[in-house]
Order: sequence, then structure tokens, then C-alpha cells
Amino acid sequence: MHKDSCTDVFLSLGWRLRLCHPLISILFWYLLLYSSHGKKLNKHKPWIETSYHGVITENMDTVLLDPPLVALDKDAPVPYAATDSAFCVLFLSGEICAFKIHGQEAPFEAEVLNRTSGEGVLRARGPIDCEQQKEYTFIIQAYDCGASPSGANWKKSHKAVVHIQVDDVNEFSPVFREPLYRATVTEGKIYDSILQVEAWDQDCSPQYSQICNYEIVTQDTPFAIDRNGNIRNTERLSYDKQQHYKIMVTAYDCGQKRATESVSVHTDVKPVCKPGWQGWNKRVDYEPGTGSKQLFSKMHLETCDGPLSSVRAMVELQTIAKTKVSNPKRYSL
Ligand SMILES: *[C@@H]1O[C@H](CO)[C@@H](O)[C@H](O)[C@H]1NC(C)=O
Repeated sequence: MHKDSCTDVFLSLGWRLRLCHPLISILFWYLLLYSSHGKKLNKHKPWIETSYHGVITENMDTVLLDPPLVALDKDAPVPYAATDSAFCVLFLSGEICAFKIHGQEAPFEAEVLNRTSGEGVLRARGPIDCEQQKEYTFIIQAYDCGASPSGANWKKSHKAVVHIQVDDVNEFSPVFREPLYRATVTEGKIYDSILQVEAWDQDCSPQYSQICNYEIVTQDTPFAIDRNGNIRNTERLSYDKQQHYKIMVTAYDCGQKRATESVSVHTDVKPVCKPGWQGWNKRVDYEPGTGSKQLFSKMHLETCDGPLSSVRAMVELQTIAKTKVSNPKRYSL
């Protein structure tokens, strides 16, 4: 086969045709002549939908478009051949060559997947962060391949609006607003709410940013917490039994992600004021032969701010030896 009698044709999809039969070559050159009036070959502009709705999951790059991105061109797939003595580039004016996005700030790009079918795909150019921007709107246009290899006389479709919504990923865990919570309760009282703790979450969707539950991490405490973070006591607290409680609380967002750090809640129990003599002990140890000893140096009378007209006090002492109870001696004041 002599090379001279053959014609190499390069198709736009990267295929190569070698035309060697004279009749085929004649037909081909006929087409070539016909199509030298390139404008006749690209009569129609591509067609796309008027609007697209897309969804992208943050940190991913593929956009799911509804309807799918497809550009149609009514031009017949007539080959256009450039007149170059040795090569002919077969070009189909009914093909789609590009999708262009208008809107400088839109971090998306569109690519043609199949020039013949006009299918395209929309991708993110960089990481999409839902916490920064939840939705994007921009314009897309399809371009056909024109009527010559240089791209002259290409036609573009009308402008379609693309609206993209960014789906959230539960990246962030709840964080408490305060580093520590403090409360004071009076002993013997049952409270509906001693105090309220509050956590928040940086995620962008309601599901992953709202706090759905709080939990007391510390075991066996006389406290309970509700979904809104209100802490209450489940039993009456006694100042004599325990004056201070420290419990740890955690929070969950509505995607079940738990706070990375629990928060500390400190509760002080305040004694109820009981009128009477205070600051003394029933029992006083005395070492024999150690001289005199003051019995109730810190004793005071708590009146609880009540009115006081007269005070009468009586002290009764009973001596108990370490080994045996001696004859009780009573002293009166
Ligand atoms: C491109 O689309 C055409 C028409 O739908 C189809 O025949 C062809 O197989 C597709 N090419 C590829 C590579 O998928």
C-alpha cells in the first residue's frame, strides 16, 4: 500500500481513519469541499435545561445534578474537514466541546464527558466547606465545537442557572459555653432546676449543630439532667452529710456526636439556719492533771435573724472515765 494514495483523517475523539480506496477518498473530498462553507454546518446552538439543582457533600468534589448535565445539539454530525494537503481533521459540528461557568467566585468547574452525547459533569475546584457557605448559585453555558478545528463559528447555549446546596458532614463535636459551672443549693430542698448548662456545635446543619441530649457522666450522684441541660437534684441534700458536689456533664449533638470534653459542675450545699447554740461538741476529752480547760470557747447563739427577748441557758456535764463510767457528776450553770 503506497502512502501517497491514502488519506489520513484524525477524528476529534482521537481516532484515526486511513482512507485508501479511491471511491472513499472521492466521497471524502466531496464532503470536504461541501463543508468548506463551515457556517452552513453549524446552524444550531446547543440546548441545555434552564435550571439545575445540585447537591454536594462538603469535602467531596462531585456534584450530583438534577437533571443531569447534558447538552444537545441538533446539528447533524457532518464531518468538517480542514484543508491541509496531507491531513484532514474530521470535526463534528453537532458535538459539545465545553461547559463554561460564569461567576468568578463559584468554586466549581464543568467538564465534558462525552462530546457526542453532550454529557458533562460538575466538580468542585477545591474543598467545599458547609460552615463557610451553604449554597452557591451561578450560570452555566454549553459550547459546541464550532465548524472548524480552530473553534471558529462555535455556538453557545442559553444561560442556565445552577443552584447548589452543600450537604453537611458531622465534623464538629459539641463544646460547652462555659469552662466550669457553679451553683449553690439549700439543703433539704428539691429544685426543678439548680442551673442550666449549655453546649453548642459548629456544624452547619440543624441536625449536626443542635444539641439533642445532655448526660451526667459521674456515677451515683443525687442529680439528673434533662435534654435542655437543666440540672436538678433527685433527693434532698444534707449539709451535714456532704457540703460540696462535683459532677461531670457531657453533651450530644443530634447526629449522636459527643462533646470531646466534659464540663465540671460544682454545687455547694448551704445549711438551713437552725436557731440555737452552735459551735460546741457534746463530748470534750480531758487528760487528768492538765489543769483547767475552757469547755465551749467557740460556742455562739444562732438566732437566724429572729427577734430575741431573753436567753436562758443550762449546761449539764457528765464525766465519763476512759475505763469505766464514774459516778455521774452534774454541774449546772
Ligand atoms: C458517547 O456517546 C455516544 C452517544 O450516546 C455513545 O455512542 C458513545 O459510546 C459514548 N462514548 C463513550 C466513550 O462513552
